[in-house]
Amino acid sequence: MTITILGIETSCDETAASVVVDGREISSNVISSQIDIHSKFGGVVPEEASRKHLETINAVIQEALDEAGITFKDLDAVAVTYGPGLVGALLVGVSAAKSLACALDVPLLAVNHLEGHVSANFLSFEHIEFPVLCLVVSGGHTDLVIIKKHGVYEAVGSTRDDAAGEAFDKVARVLELGYPGGPVIEKAARCGNSDTVHLPRAYLEEGSLDFSFSGVKTAVINYTHKLFQNGEALSKENLAASFQKAVIDVLVDKTMDAAVKYSIHTLMLAGGVAANTELRRSLSTKAVEEGLKLFYPPPVMCTDNAAMIACAGYYKFLKKDYAPLTLNAVPGLELGNEKY
Ligand code: KG4
Ligand code: ZN
Repeated sequence: MTITILGIETSCDETAASVVVDGREISSNVISSQIDIHSKFGGVVPEEASRKHLETINAVIQEALDEAGITFKDLDAVAVTYGPGLVGALLVGVSAAKSLACALDVPLLAVNHLEGHVSANFLSFEHIEFPVLCLVVSGGHTDLVIIKKHGVYEAVGSTRDDAAGEAFDKVARVLELGYPGGPVIEKAARCGNSDTVHLPRAYLEEGSLDFSFSGVKTAVINYTHKLFQNGEALSKENLAASFQKAVIDVLVDKTMDAAVKYSIHTLMLAGGVAANTELRRSLSTKAVEEGLKLFYPPPVMCTDNAAMIACAGYYKFLKKDYAPLTLNAVPGLELGNEKY
């Protein structure tokens, strides 16, 4: 017997629905992005996001079913992101999923968005041995997490201020490169030299596995202002490359330190920033040097999508870890601290 799960994701600025069979086979993966709407503001406008999710969700779900060649009656469960994220945005997905689960009389599976990002690896690779150390790097999070088995997490490091993706977005705004910042910084950096601008790397106290990116962001802003005041020309490419390297150096070093500290031999990357080619390359090089295995999903599975939510939901389905129909959105939800 196969298990067919509809995943729904509306935590930020993507309205997404996907049908996944047996936790690995993606039958459809529909993503309706709101980038056009938010890019003119240089960031996500929460009210606009909720309204757009509401307008789009039904059509996106229908498209996911059509692409998979199934109807509602073929679904065994509905999985949905219930946090963390923007509360108004999350509520649209949660309400849609609850209505469907109730009407179809199938289990409702409540998925933490970060667990979804992590699961993009399980979707892409069949054999990943536990324990795994995962660097989750997105627009809202920079976390080092040990995964002991499906659904069992221990956070060992986190950002104390800006998330890595947030820093990319803010620096891109200062350099007037567009939104979201990650892909445009990566593109500009390809034409730049990362050794040209000296930027700080915050390693914090000795042995700390926490991150801090506000310092490097402020250094970029100060550098830009100084050049402007002196009437000197700014090479956005060189600055983008130097900034990207400063962030990646810290991400890679701390991940390797955590692997040594906790004697873990398998690494994973997850979240939107994991789509970054330089981060993937840099961590791969270190992992090979140290004899560690490294997994990362294809770029489209790193950024927000609903296939990863359906995959995370599949493991909850196997454990009969069903959510009640009273499920609410939890904007500040933490990994491993389920609230339903
Ligand atoms: O995981 P995600 O799609 O949404 C959140 O859960 O936040 O991550 C979005 C973040 C944004 O900050 C975006 O700038 C960043 O991921 N991002 C990247 C790249 N692609 C997306 N950062 C660096 N390099 C990229 N290629
Ligand atoms: Zn995300």
